[in-house]
Amino acid sequence: MKPKKTRNEADGHEGKPVSASQSEMNEIVLPAQTNPLGKLLGGHVMHLVDMAAAMAAHRHSGSYVVTASVDYIDFRNPVGLGEIVILKSQVNRVFHTSLEVGVEVYSENVLTGERKHTTSAFVTFVAIDEHTRKPKPVPPLIVKTDEEKRRFEDAGKRREVRLALRYGKK
Ligand SMILES: CC(C)(COP(=O)(O)OP(=O)(O)OC[C@H]1O[C@@H](n2cnc3c(N)ncnc32)[C@H](O)[C@@H]1OP(=O)(O)O)[C@@H](O)C(=O)NCCC(=O)NCCS
Repeated sequence: MKPKKTRNEADGHEGKPVSASQSEMNEIVLPAQTNPLGKLLGGHVMHLVDMAAAMAAHRHSGSYVVTASVDYIDFRNPVGLGEIVILKSQVNRVFHTSLEVGVEVYSENVLTGERKHTTSAFVTFVAIDEHTRKPKPVPPLIVKTDEEKRRFEDAGKRREVRLALRYGKK
């Protein structure tokens, strides 16, 4: 069924629900992506996080996006050789031309099916106009569930910190 949309009077954009851009990526961990201990390289996890987050950002914004910042990458458990790495991404909040995407990473043992939460991250993207190559407004996000509303509120607090770091003020 087509997701319900609302109208944003300010930018003339229609809103989209979180569910419309939620994304998932799966990959088997191969030897070339592991360290000498047979664990998935942190740098490769970061690349996958960026890709999974970009999928949700592209789907929500319907435009090109660039990564503006990545914060709170937290490696809780390693992902081992031969395991399946699962990345789930969703838009937490839209600001004006930017949006925050949350990514959760899980490992899945192919023999037992056991899943572990391994990594969390927040990635901020800026939508870029395909012609002018300048930042462009992003459609509003429709948050429905309590969990979506909590993520929305938390994203606002994280933005204050990010912009203070970038511009030296709130
Ligand atoms: C991200 C980028 C487009 C921002 O450009 P800018 O000239 O600072 O643009 P603006 O000041 O107009 O800000 C545009 C948006 O970016 C947001 N932004 C800028 N820096 C940010 C940061 N560190 N974290 C989160 N958001 C940020 C601003 O808040 C604004 O969002 P809003 O419209 O929703 O309020 C620019 O810095 C850039 O192109 N960076 C390189 C991106 C890139 O190449 N990424 C690939 C990996 S390195």
